[in-house]
Amino acid sequence: MAKTLLIVYHSMTDGTHQMVEAARAGASAEAGVGVRLLHASQAGPADVLTADAYIFATPENLAAMSGQLKHFFDRTYYAALDQIVGRPYAALICAGSDGNNAARQVERIATGWRLS
Ligand SMILES: Cc1cc2nc3c(=O)[nH]c(=O)nc-3n(C[C@H](O)[C@H](O)[C@H](O)COP(=O)(O)O)c2cc1C
Repeated sequence: MAKTLLIVYHSMTDGTHQMVEAARAGASAEAGVGVRLLHASQAGPADVLTADAYIFATPENLAAMSGQLKHFFDRTYYAALDQIVGRPYAALICAGSDGNNAARQVERIATGWRLS
């Protein structure tokens, strides 16, 4: 049975978008993997619950993940809590300097969801 990789992203100047398109191409080349690529504004709790694995992708803007990715997490966090434990995830950060703070913020939410 095919596994679904959900990629949720936001991008202001296309850098993150290019990263997720590369990730989509790579994952789609794997047998048995279906990829859903959704802009953060379009992704909701049902998308999270029905996926088997996740990539969350964002620029670092003003030392934080983008507001739209944060809003996605705000809208989905409690709806998915305790229901997606142990599913794998990765974060993609597109940054002009280090991106550490955005990475830390995404990791903290993934830890709350107990993703692996
Ligand atoms: C308003 C604004 C704030 C930014 N703040 C940061 C920052 O705090 N740290 C960083 O590493 N890059 C920062 N950048 C640079 C962006 O992360 C970088 O240009 C990135 O490639 C943008 O990704 P995007 O093309 O997907 O929007 C900032 C850019 C903008 C426009």
